[in-house]
Amino acid sequence: MIGNKVSRVEQAGQAGVVRIKWIPKYSAMERVFHWGHTVTYFALALTGMILFFPFLQPIAQGESGWLIRLTHRAAAIAYGAFPLIYVILEPRRAWMSLKSVFKVSRYDIDWVKGMVPYYMFGRHDAMAPQDRFNTGEKLNAAVIILGSVVFAVTGLIMWFGKGILPIGVFQTMVLLHDIAMIVTVCMFIVHFYLAVLHPLMWAGLVSMRFGVTSAAYAQEHHALWYYGPEKARETYEAQKAEQAAGQES
Ligand code: HEM
Repeated sequence: MIGNKVSRVEQAGQAGVVRIKWIPKYSAMERVFHWGHTVTYFALALTGMILFFPFLQPIAQGESGWLIRLTHRAAAIAYGAFPLIYVILEPRRAWMSLKSVFKVSRYDIDWVKGMVPYYMFGRHDAMAPQDRFNTGEKLNAAVIILGSVVFAVTGLIMWFGKGILPIGVFQTMVLLHDIAMIVTVCMFIVHFYLAVLHPLMWAGLVSMRFGVTSAAYAQEHHALWYYGPEKARETYEAQKAEQAAGQES
């Protein structure tokens, strides 16, 4: 869509046009999944917090409490349905994404080392080549995936086990559910900052809206994905050797 707009402008022969080559990153299903999960996560976090914080207890009582619990359960069904639909409709892409989220390489260690100079001081040379998901995105996805498993297991046990389970088991489920909320909300704040507010990561939001990313951005931020492992490694090692030579002289 965006690519067509540029080529039409070019055909019109306008001087000074910036050529952007767009490459596909996310399928339509992946974007529906991402945004659907975001909306339902918000609903779950908001209703969950009303049940969690003691100062909000008055709202969690009576009819409003009943409505909040109902909304939480309805949102939980939708929250669980999005990944299920993704896996059913695009099993190969879902498997590919899952594998890349949990694949750890030496570049992830280098990402951690280069994280502060890169994100805080814009030092592009400090960043190791990254896959379709960079290390931070993988960390976020892993926390959300594992957190969602905890939410689903403990939530379903609370939902259907109330009054049946021993009180100690029930309270453990509540505690694990609460811990999952605290961990995933912290992760969500970091993810929101990097994806929406950080100036270096502008293309992340574009790709999650339109499904494409610019080739120039992919070369710089996802070299491992764009060039493949060999060329990415060669370029990275040449860059590091150049830096080392520069420091010596
Ligand atoms: C598959 C997803 C989920 C299921 C099945 C689920 C289910 C439940 C159930 C049944 C309850 C008990 C409500 C009651 O008092 O009757 C509950 C409470 C709660 N949920 Fe969820 N939930 C899910 C996801 C989430 C998410 C994503 C969050 C937050 C980000 C969340 C936060 C909470 C909190 C904070 C409570 C209150 C626990 C307490 O009393 O301390 N839940 N959930």
